[in-house]
Amino acid sequence: MTGMRPIDEQVILVTGATSGLGRALAGRLAELGATVIMHGRSRDRLDAASERIRAEVPDATLYPVVADLASLDEVDRLADEVLAEHPALHALVNNAGVGFGSDSSRRETSRDGIELRFAVNHLAGAQLIRRLLPRLAESAPSRIVQVASLGQAPIDPADPQLDRDYDGWRAYAQSKLAQVMLTRDLAVECDPATVTVNALHPATFMDTGMVREGGITPQSSVDEGLEATLRLVAEPDLDGVSGRFFDGTRETSPHRDADDPEARARVRELTDELLYGGT
Ligand SMILES: NC(=O)c1ccc[n+]([C@@H]2O[C@H](COP(=O)([O-])OP(=O)(O)OC[C@H]3O[C@@H](n4cnc5c(N)ncnc54)[C@H](OP(=O)(O)O)[C@@H]3O)[C@@H](O)[C@H]2O)c1
Repeated sequence: MTGMRPIDEQVILVTGATSGLGRALAGRLAELGATVIMHGRSRDRLDAASERIRAEVPDATLYPVVADLASLDEVDRLADEVLAEHPALHALVNNAGVGFGSDSSRRETSRDGIELRFAVNHLAGAQLIRRLLPRLAESAPSRIVQVASLGQAPIDPADPQLDRDYDGWRAYAQSKLAQVMLTRDLAVECDPATVTVNALHPATFMDTGMVREGGITPQSSVDEGLEATLRLVAEPDLDGVSGRFFDGTRETSPHRDADDPEARARVRELTDELLYGGT
């Protein structure tokens, strides 16, 4: 098996690079010499994040890409842009996410009418993987990192989008379990010598926008989550390691449904149904 390329020869897409963990990761990767495709939903916030990184790393190689991940059309446009502009892609970090919200009883939907947390946290990443996997495979060895969470909840097949009994925490935790389930599925699908896929809980209640918006007192620093996430992207010892779930830097077991074939098949079907109408 070929080992990973030096990080300064890699092209890496980080979603949600405008704040919190994503911005910190983009900055560190740029400092290490990687070419960083920085995704954000707002051009202004992307410009501000890029400027902030360039102030620290003047020779940073940054490519901003704009897409609202609450729209599957925009997710596809993002994938089209990356494929058109970047002949190689060595890592995809699905980091962008919506938290629990300031009012966790208020159900929100994406532009496609899908429960918002499932749409942004899981479906957008799943679609990006689907679209970018051939490019990642051509650029092998490459890595996919799913920024998930220890907050995981099973998906009730009778009410998968919480139409009846909505709770923002539950919606968030369902989307995070779906990310881990997809990680397990992809690790079976992909040759780990070519593309590895791992998921993590970066750190608990880091001092970021989504934690503050949820009215939670931060318990850890962004740096802590950054180190754990960077490790999955750039640690040579993790060559060929795939399908794992980490709490920070320690491998751990996700919710038991992540290893239940029937529960996984149901979420796969739901994902395909929402993305492709079941095809
Ligand atoms: N904070 C924690 O303690 C913690 C714990 C476990 C897991 N995580 C996970 O870590 C990841 C990063 O979160 P964070 O803590 O760094 O929070 P954050 O500072 O709120 O960052 C979230 C990022 O996602 C982007 N985003 C949200 N909705 C989007 C949309 N519809 N389209 C495109 N981008 C969108 C945000 O863009 P804007 O700048 O435009 O808002 C922002 O860049 C998330 O997946 C989160 O679930 C965080």
